[in-house]
Amino acid sequence: MPTSDLTGRRVLVTGGSGFIGRHVVSALSAEGAVVRVVDLRAPDDPAVDAVLGDIADPHVLEQAFAGGCDSIVHLAAVTSVLRSLQQPELTYRTNVAGTAALLEAGRAAGTTSLAFASTNAVTGPMHEPAITEAATLEPMTPYGSTKAAGEMLMSAYTASYGLRCACLRLTNVYGLGMQAKDSIVARLMRCIRLGTTFEIYGDGTQVRDYVHVLDVVAAMHLALVSDAWSGPMVIGSGSSLSVLEVIDAVREVSGADIDVRHGPAKPGEMPAVIVEPARAHAAGWTPRLPSLRDGLVGVWEEWSQPEAQAVR
Ligand SMILES: NC(=O)c1ccc[n+]([C@@H]2O[C@H](COP(=O)([O-])OP(=O)(O)OC[C@H]3O[C@@H](n4cnc5c(N)ncnc54)[C@H](O)[C@@H]3O)[C@@H](O)[C@H]2O)c1
Repeated sequence: MPTSDLTGRRVLVTGGSGFIGRHVVSALSAEGAVVRVVDLRAPDDPAVDAVLGDIADPHVLEQAFAGGCDSIVHLAAVTSVLRSLQQPELTYRTNVAGTAALLEAGRAAGTTSLAFASTNAVTGPMHEPAITEAATLEPMTPYGSTKAAGEMLMSAYTASYGLRCACLRLTNVYGLGMQAKDSIVARLMRCIRLGTTFEIYGDGTQVRDYVHVLDVVAAMHLALVSDAWSGPMVIGSGSSLSVLEVIDAVREVSGADIDVRHGPAKPGEMPAVIVEPARAHAAGWTPRLPSLRDGLVGVWEEWSQPEAQAVR
């Protein structure tokens, strides 16, 4: 983590009980921030100050902002592309109306900075060799479009009210504590543990960028403390791997022989994700775990424990 001081800063973490949120909460708390979570689910750690409820509910936000709020890390969302396709209305309510309500509560509280977990799915099909912040917004799913709408709201709150918002367009995030996730790394680990067959969506040549959750936490920290972080910021390792290459990396790290079969491609999947995080690099962020293979070592160590939680 960068060293800029967060001691005593009151930080509200929406979605703080989730995969990325748990890492954010423990890192910010370790830095001396006064952290509060607002989430539909209680945090695993009962010592964490939490308000339970929906960010789109004004009464919940009233409790969440009671006592003041200097900064926000906004993670709460309908996070699954597939679920967003099945439930576009819920996705809108949480990702757009919830985000608007949060910004309004932040404005009233005099909040000065916000780090938003956006996604490269706001840009859609690639028209250039790499995705940068200049890529046209062309989301292909309700998930991507509601995140793009969140970014637009943030742009207005930055310009109109001085609430500096950094929209971190994350690629595929992986790391410790992803047992409840359905992304490729978690699915592969689960298949090894359960001895089941891994389904490759499509031919497996589609490329994606993978970023370690601790590098995401470091970017969020910078977004809270540095004025250079405002507007869209692409956050990824900067090197992409095909699904087939990811399977090979997991095989290599785990020593397991993973059984695979091909299934149909999923609707709304981006054809390719290759990102250029030059703007974040210039603003002081460098991934400490840029290699997926290196990052997978700790992930496999966790999943290989007999007591690994919620493997199913
Ligand atoms: N994990 C990734 O690969 C990835 C990639 C790009 C962007 N993101 C974004 O990062 C953020 C965090 O992702 P994650 O992987 O930790 O997801 P997660 O599903 O593990 O965590 C999301 C949390 O938000 C909470 N939540 C959902 N709706 C809510 C609501 N209406 N009110 C209050 N809380 C609510 C959930 O209970 C959950 O604890 C999300 O906004 C996601 O879209 C994640």
